Amino acid sequence: MTAGTLVLIILVAILTQVGIAALIVLRRRGRQYRELDGGSGESNAHSAAQTPMQPTAPTEAWTGFREFAVQRRVFEDESRSICSFYLVPCDGKPLPSFRPGQFLTFRLAVEDPAEGESSNVVRCYSLSDSPRPDHYRVSIKRVPTPPDHPDAPPGVSSGFFHDHVQVGDRLMIRPPSGHFHLTEDEPLSIVLIGGGIGITPMLSILNSVLERGIGREIWLYYGIRNGSEHIMKAHLRTLADRHDNFHLHVCYSAPGEDDVEGVDYDHRGRVDLPLLRNTLKLARYQFYVCGPKPMMESLVPGLEEWGVDGGDIYYESFGPATLIKREKPAPAATDAQSVNVTFSRSGKRLTWDPTAGSLLEFAEANGIDVDSGCRAGSCGSCQTALTAGEVEYSQQPDADIEPGHCLLCIAAPSCDLVLEA
Ligand SMILES: Cc1cc2nc3c(=O)[nH]c(=O)nc-3n(C[C@H](O)[C@H](O)[C@H](O)COP(=O)(O)OP(=O)(O)OC[C@H]3O[C@@H](n4cnc5c(N)ncnc54)[C@H](O)[C@@H]3O)c2cc1C
Ligand code: FES
Repeated sequence: MTAGTLVLIILVAILTQVGIAALIVLRRRGRQYRELDGGSGESNAHSAAQTPMQPTAPTEAWTGFREFAVQRRVFEDESRSICSFYLVPCDGKPLPSFRPGQFLTFRLAVEDPAEGESSNVVRCYSLSDSPRPDHYRVSIKRVPTPPDHPDAPPGVSSGFFHDHVQVGDRLMIRPPSGHFHLTEDEPLSIVLIGGGIGITPMLSILNSVLERGIGREIWLYYGIRNGSEHIMKAHLRTLADRHDNFHLHVCYSAPGEDDVEGVDYDHRGRVDLPLLRNTLKLARYQFYVCGPKPMMESLVPGLEEWGVDGGDIYYESFGPATLIKREKPAPAATDAQSVNVTFSRSGKRLTWDPTAGSLLEFAEANGIDVDSGCRAGSCGSCQTALTAGEVEYSQQPDADIEPGHCLLCIAAPSCDLVLEA
């Protein structure tokens, strides 16, 4: 064998080895990527097409409702009670970004089977993923008839999504909005607390923080009954395995026979203050809380009693069921100390003062039936005709308000009022 042939053989051997090593690395990366997106099964749709939002020129939010098409549906839990909907704009124009934690408002034409006619239903759903350039995602839990009202109809909007909204269907959506979102003013460690479907805004915050690699420590406390309703289980576990700055605590209040502590979940019981005290270091955190009524009513005041500054606690209610009663400043800057509010349809004349909160809270506390959705001036559900007087808003309304109407959820009277409710 000549020296040239020997050199050639050595070169070929080296190139073959380099090629094999590259193939192994590529296969591993591919596997890790699939695992990050939920492994096998339904959740693995989390992301083949998911590209994080690139820093480009910001796209303006649209006004009113815009038409979107459903690109994909993915069940997210074992019991198939939570379904994600991937939404792309029908006009093909760019999507504005959003702040992780914000929600979309939907207007659905839902047919009443008894009447055979459709009526408009307005509901809000949190964006459940970090901003992406080409689509939004919401994850919707089917709301059944409450056990204490077996004759009541099941949830209208959630049932409509689960039973009728299919790939290719079109939906009318208002732009992302809401004041519950990740705050980036101070690079504090983050504690996310999600109960049940209250996990959705937390998923958006979590995915955004980890994808951007900004290195803030982040804890997620996720409370559910058992494994059958565990959302995106593989995705969450993989994130926890891959990111040293992410600490996952899953709590099952009523584990099933097959649920194994230390494998499927971390703690038996609810997310409560003792758990937070035992697992968090003594430090200042930003707390984000969203969950069912008992969780909100115990945790939010509990955190303050523990010494957490109220300004470091952010919380969101998914509607009237999760109202938190606690001291808070008057919602609008009004000079009125106490004014008369007449609800003309209910025939009630009542005295409002700043401790009564917004006109929506005031109406509900006095047994007056008013529709509501976001409770944040975004969806327009609580819009009510104002026959006399004026209101002031605690924040800029996001919803379009018809002339002669007001949004009760963010309004306080500035003089005597007559409302058509
Ligand atoms: C900001 C925000 C974000 C949200 N994000 C999410 C999210 O990410 N995912 C999600 O799944 N949800 C979310 N929600 C909740 C969502 O907007 C809806 O409230 C939820 O889907 C229920 O709506 P529905 O139309 O299905 O139920 P509804 O029709 O409003 O009914 C609600 C419940 O009342 C019961 N009911 C109906 N009629 C009666 C009666 N006469 N007597 C007694 N009970 C009755 C129903 O059986 C049902 O249990 C969010 C809400 C807000 C405000
Ligand atoms: S409840 Fe949505 S605007 Fe008032």
